[in-house]
Amino acid sequence: MEDSSAAPPTASMASRPGRVVSNDVVTGGCHRIALEVQGEWPAARAGQFAMLSTDDVRFPILPRPFSLLGSRRRQDGRDEVEFMLMPVGVGSGLLCSLKPDDTLQLVGPLGHAMDRDLPDGPIVCVAGGYGLAPFLFLLDQWRRENHPRLGDVTVIFGARTAARLSLADRLAAAADGRVVLCTDDGSEGFSGRVDAALTDSIARQRPGIVLTCGPEAMMEAVGSVCAAAGIPARASLETVMGCGYAVCNGCAVAVDSSAHAEGYTYELACREGTVFDEGRLQWNLL
Ligand SMILES: Cc1cc2nc3c(=O)[nH]c(=O)nc-3n(C[C@H](O)[C@H](O)[C@H](O)COP(=O)(O)OP(=O)(O)OC[C@H]3O[C@@H](n4cnc5c(N)ncnc54)[C@H](O)[C@@H]3O)c2cc1C
Ligand code: FES
Repeated sequence: MEDSSAAPPTASMASRPGRVVSNDVVTGGCHRIALEVQGEWPAARAGQFAMLSTDDVRFPILPRPFSLLGSRRRQDGRDEVEFMLMPVGVGSGLLCSLKPDDTLQLVGPLGHAMDRDLPDGPIVCVAGGYGLAPFLFLLDQWRRENHPRLGDVTVIFGARTAARLSLADRLAAAADGRVVLCTDDGSEGFSGRVDAALTDSIARQRPGIVLTCGPEAMMEAVGSVCAAAGIPARASLETVMGCGYAVCNGCAVAVDSSAHAEGYTYELACREGTVFDEGRLQWNLL
């Protein structure tokens, strides 16, 4: 099977029907939605995403991007993918209202894997909200592959309050307990923000790399902690997107470039990312 994260996304650009297998509300109001893909789905890796839409006339004109929470070939030969969706508006709300056996459209897998060329040493993943999805996928994928780096991963997962820590139980099992939960109000785990928990963690054990996914302000704060400590970081962006495969130019992000007089240029998050070396990102221009 072709690895979609390393190849131009031609097969991934096809729109495929999907059938809802299950749709469960989890802690924090997120939905965990499992879909059976009709037709072959290219092999996906953690960090990739799909564009989802329904045929409902109320669905926005453009499909909506969501990170893969999982992707696997079942024993019956069908591909099953899962997502962690927070209903925030029209599109995500309609997707979250789907029932088993309802159908929808998927385009993907799109974007690049987050586990390419990782340096040696501990890997600290810092997640906020549904930014946990790619890290759960990474842990599950590495466990299935018996990956030698699985034991290197620790996940710092934060939310405003304990009731918003969606899928924290699944995370604890997937990471064999190497998890630091953080809440702003101190109702669970570390009391404070994930960047403060990361500072503590770095003082105990220096990571080889930090991976982060979540709200932009959170990732920027994580990037500052890493820059101060001289630790490489990668951020998985949740930029607004129109197409998902480099046609609409709607997801341009500003990145450092010595080749340009201004010191920066634009790259497409859907094609070049969504995972970027954090140090290249011009957060003030995103
Ligand atoms: C690569 C990528 C991966 C993503 N992964 C996930 C994921 O795994 N799970 C998930 O739930 N979402 C994810 N998102 C965000 C998701 O795409 C948006 O929430 C969705 O597009 C909103 O569409 P809508 O039609 O529901 O909202 P709209 O009707 O377009 O917007 C309604 C309101 O919600 C606000 N809004 C839009 N997006 C967000 C947001 N992300 N958070 C809070 N408010 C918002 C808008 O500003 C507006 O006020 C991802 C985005 C990207 C680019
Ligand atoms: S989302 Fe259309 S170019 Fe990236």
